[in-house]
Amino acid sequence: MDSIKIVGGHRLDGTISISGAKNAALPLMVSSLLTEEPLTLNNVPDLADVSLLTRILSGLGVEITMHDQNGQGDVGSQVYTLHSSHITSTVAPYELVSRMRASFWVIGPLLARCGEARVSLPGGCAIGMRPVDLYLMGLRALGVHISIEKGYIVAKAPRGLIGAHIVFPCVTVGATHTLLMAATLARGETVIENAAREPEVGDLITCLNEMGARISGIGSSRLVIQGVDRLHGATHEVLPDRVEAGTYALATVAASGNVLLRNARPELMETVFDTMRQAGAQVNIVDEGVRIQHDGSLLRPVNVHTHPFPGFPTDLQAQLMALMTLSGGTSRICETIFENRFMHVNELLRLGANISLNGKMATVYGATHLKGTEVKATDLRASACLVIAGLAAEGITTISHVYHLDRGFERIEEKLSSVGADIKRCRG
Ligand code: UD1
Repeated sequence: MDSIKIVGGHRLDGTISISGAKNAALPLMVSSLLTEEPLTLNNVPDLADVSLLTRILSGLGVEITMHDQNGQGDVGSQVYTLHSSHITSTVAPYELVSRMRASFWVIGPLLARCGEARVSLPGGCAIGMRPVDLYLMGLRALGVHISIEKGYIVAKAPRGLIGAHIVFPCVTVGATHTLLMAATLARGETVIENAAREPEVGDLITCLNEMGARISGIGSSRLVIQGVDRLHGATHEVLPDRVEAGTYALATVAASGNVLLRNARPELMETVFDTMRQAGAQVNIVDEGVRIQHDGSLLRPVNVHTHPFPGFPTDLQAQLMALMTLSGGTSRICETIFENRFMHVNELLRLGANISLNGKMATVYGATHLKGTEVKATDLRASACLVIAGLAAEGITTISHVYHLDRGFERIEEKLSSVGADIKRCRG
């Protein structure tokens, strides 16, 4: 199992190019199931989750070709063409769905296109319960008959999907993606209320409309979908990754330095950048992206609640916590989206942090002098938090179980080394 070794204390200076967003690429790839024509996606990141979804879609009969965007092997420059001319299976097996929850989303397009799907329930997850009840509530509203057999959702809509009025009781990104995709081919109008407004949902809507769907309300919590008979092929560019950009922004402040985040989209990250400015970092919007600067002076503590977009993203909560261990006071970080997304706290304690937990609230006592040691990556975003802590810590930090990191951060050690970090992957 690979590990990552970081020698802390090096400034970061230079430019990091932000890759295509994992959380946009995955639903976009799934949407290829909705049409028998090819869907070409530019700027697909090279990530373990993308490879795993490729396997799942191939198993359903999707022909997938992939090549470098400009033939130069640049980071973040893969082009995928996904062609679902014949869907040969409507089954997504436990072995694959349990490894990546987003693969559950195939249930929407499979039902829309084939009228049936047999998709494994995703099973346990490191950051909380993460049920699929709201997906099922929405699909039932579209006329789907659902039963559960031996851990599989068996879903049938032999006479096709019928438009409906769906009101989500809480914001869910995945169920919004799934219901949106399903409703594009339903008969009549579907309205989704309290839909997720995450930019990645907007990217999916843009692509679906490019494929011939009729969806209005992009960027709002009320989406209206007029069903159409068929969708056609399209070419679409995946949105830059705001979580990756936010992670490198926080890393630059933790290590001190001056880094241009090329292609970062500041309008999608206002809450994150406001929080960083409040803490004392310099965040400047420039033509090519966003420039982050910090001179190493003591940071101010912040109080943050995670919220659905446009609130502070849960996917940057762990990384912000690593930074706040270095501030000059006491920060409070409240996780409101997931029930158990504090697995990184015990690892930060191993590096010398002083954090107490009370339910959803973490109190981070700053002014910590972090000292490198061995830590374990427990989930995707928690791993990024340990990288940030390792960059700021004195001495050597070794992070094990980095396969979590590879799920969502493209060539992280290459990108950070290119701006001056002392970070290496140890194969093992
Ligand atoms: C997506 C993102 C993930 C991000 C999360 C919240 C991808 C691949 N993943 O995950 O990175 O952290 O959004 O921004 O895009 N819920 C239910 N019942 C349901 C569905 C969800 O109770 O049927 C709850 C979940 O348990 C959670 C909350 O709703 O507490 C939000 O989950 P959701 O937005 O669905 O997250 P994902 O789509 O899985």
